[in-house]
Amino acid sequence: MSLYPFSQKRRFNRAFAPILLSLAVASCSSSSDNVPLTDAEDASLGLPEGTVEDEQTQPENPAIDPAIDPAIDTGSINQEETPTINPEDRPSINTDGLTSGNQPLGSLPQPPLTPPPDEQSAPVPAERLTTTITQFFPVRDPVRDLNDPDDGLSDADFDAGLLPAVIETPAEVDPTSNTPPYFVDIDNVEIFAGQQLEVIFDPDDDQGGVPGMFPHNLLPGSRFDDNFNGTKTFRWRPLQPDVGVHEFTVTAIDPLVSSYRATQTIRIRVSLPSDISSIENLLPATDNVGTHTVQVNDPVVLYLKGTDPNGTIPTLNIINAPPGATATPHPQEEAITILHFVPESAGIVELQVQAIDAVDPSLVSTPQDIVVEVLDASDFQRTGPSLRELAAARDFLFGYAALQNFYERPDGARYAAIAGEEFNIVSTENSLKFDFINPLPGKFRWAATDNLIKLAKLQRQLVHGHTLVWHVQLPPWVKRSALEDRELIMREFIDRVLTRYADDVPLWDVVNESLEEDGTLRRSVWFEGMGANYIDIAFRQARMSAPDATLIYNDYDIAFAGPKSDGMLNLVQKLKDEGTPLDGVGFQLHVFADFDKFDEVAETFQKVADMDLDIYVTELDVSMGDGMTETQQAEVYEQLLSVCLEQPRCKAFQIWGFTDKYTWRGGLDPLVFDKRYQVKPAYRALQQRLSEN
Ligand code: XIL
Repeated sequence: MSLYPFSQKRRFNRAFAPILLSLAVASCSSSSDNVPLTDAEDASLGLPEGTVEDEQTQPENPAIDPAIDPAIDTGSINQEETPTINPEDRPSINTDGLTSGNQPLGSLPQPPLTPPPDEQSAPVPAERLTTTITQFFPVRDPVRDLNDPDDGLSDADFDAGLLPAVIETPAEVDPTSNTPPYFVDIDNVEIFAGQQLEVIFDPDDDQGGVPGMFPHNLLPGSRFDDNFNGTKTFRWRPLQPDVGVHEFTVTAIDPLVSSYRATQTIRIRVSLPSDISSIENLLPATDNVGTHTVQVNDPVVLYLKGTDPNGTIPTLNIINAPPGATATPHPQEEAITILHFVPESAGIVELQVQAIDAVDPSLVSTPQDIVVEVLDASDFQRTGPSLRELAAARDFLFGYAALQNFYERPDGARYAAIAGEEFNIVSTENSLKFDFINPLPGKFRWAATDNLIKLAKLQRQLVHGHTLVWHVQLPPWVKRSALEDRELIMREFIDRVLTRYADDVPLWDVVNESLEEDGTLRRSVWFEGMGANYIDIAFRQARMSAPDATLIYNDYDIAFAGPKSDGMLNLVQKLKDEGTPLDGVGFQLHVFADFDKFDEVAETFQKVADMDLDIYVTELDVSMGDGMTETQQAEVYEQLLSVCLEQPRCKAFQIWGFTDKYTWRGGLDPLVFDKRYQVKPAYRALQQRLSEN
């Protein structure tokens, strides 16, 4: 147990809560006479039962007609059937084959190796005023923030003393004649919150010379400064939220052989001083909300969050809230107030929010401007048939990847409406990744995917599950797990996700990005535990848990010629030869607007088709590099679509998002709608190409 275990730290924050909340509400209502508090807000403020409308018991309306709900306006899709993926396209897999191929795959252990989802993981209905969707009631996870600020470290870890350095000795080094570098006078350190910590890292080597060094994990707010004398100083001033045990790791490099290294971790225990008023009280701030474009009568939600480096929760002062707006405390995060309003006419809504320190009200942040541009419905109208109408006419899937919890964004109503009108398949951008779904053993976050699936059904869209086995976006507990446990951890994750979603999600990226640029297998967490077999094992488990699903391998830089593409062709051929239940290959295609290797893409697609596999363009975006034009960008979208349409085994064309407002390639405007939800030349080029033969 740590000196200040998690629960105690929470208590420390909570000690301020009653004062803070009453101030928050007072400031919200007094800052503007037209911000009425609702019953629902009273519920969150802990008023006596009976004064509130019970959101939990609101039945979900199963007979919603999406056409009558402005917030989920699904345009013309009501006439269109939900598309399907034809299982006949899939090579038939004999499930007895589960014991052929690379190795037999037994059933999963009972009891399981890792804790299964418990009742605490079951989603609960979301409060109405927290989302932009009015008739479809989303759920939310019962616990929102499952991150462990101490990364699982406790006092026992600190008290165990300094860890020995981890030495990497390459084969060519004889450790008896060349000893590894080491740090002089290094040890674990203890400090009080508010004090300045300085630890000198002084690497030495018995064979002479000055070892180089680099840090691994700079703690938030810390620095690692070069002293220009062969040493570096780690500087950090932890504050109240940092109370607990932390680690800082530095690698020293042998002056003679650079791959000969010593990695030293120190642990830092931060405690509260007896007089916490000795800790400097820093200025609070508000999280940036920015500028958004919405349509008249769209519900708008602004998640206004106050932050304070001292860990207290500032009061928010909302200036110029629009008429009729309600301010609701977030049901799970005290620091967030949700401002909900429905603009009834076009124009610009401008307001400000500022944070007032919880302890010293004279500490006030500069007001932050928030701008909501409200446009008429006509401003969002597109000419011609939608992309999905054109796709449906040729029995084709045209899709996008959905921003996680988009209905909690200010412009979520417009986002949902356009996505519903334009696409007939949706990918889960981040909502199914291991670190999000299962961040701690036994803790699961299902709500984002539950909501996406429900909304996709309303909008008659297929759902593409992304991704079960990847080396990125893994929780720390998986990265730290014993090598011999990795197979079961992977299989249990696949099984839990598929057990929940197999009926609703017909297509899965089972393994993602297993190849290096040179076409060899990446030394991932999964490879380390199982060797090359992990891919086969993952697919077999997926087939076992979801016998009817289409299972694909997904990767980037495999569509055009090169060692990585060759590596992919070898890999999938080998998997097929060994009886791995693989149905297709997903090509990510994160490219730039000067991309021109369309012939190579067509050739690669043909080679995959010749292996009797389906092809999916899974994550297309076309970034604008320096000097590139939107015309070039449109051309790349159109040409890649042509390659796909001309290849009978190419089943889907999916863009990684649709508006430049929400893209992982921020600043490179890679998508087909701009930040104000207006179509770009790329959209028109796709529309044009889809309407041709
Ligand atoms: C990206 C998401 O778009 C980002 O929001 C996230 O921060 C990182 O991952 N290849 C993949 C996707 O398979 O999962 C990645 O998505 C983009 C690259």
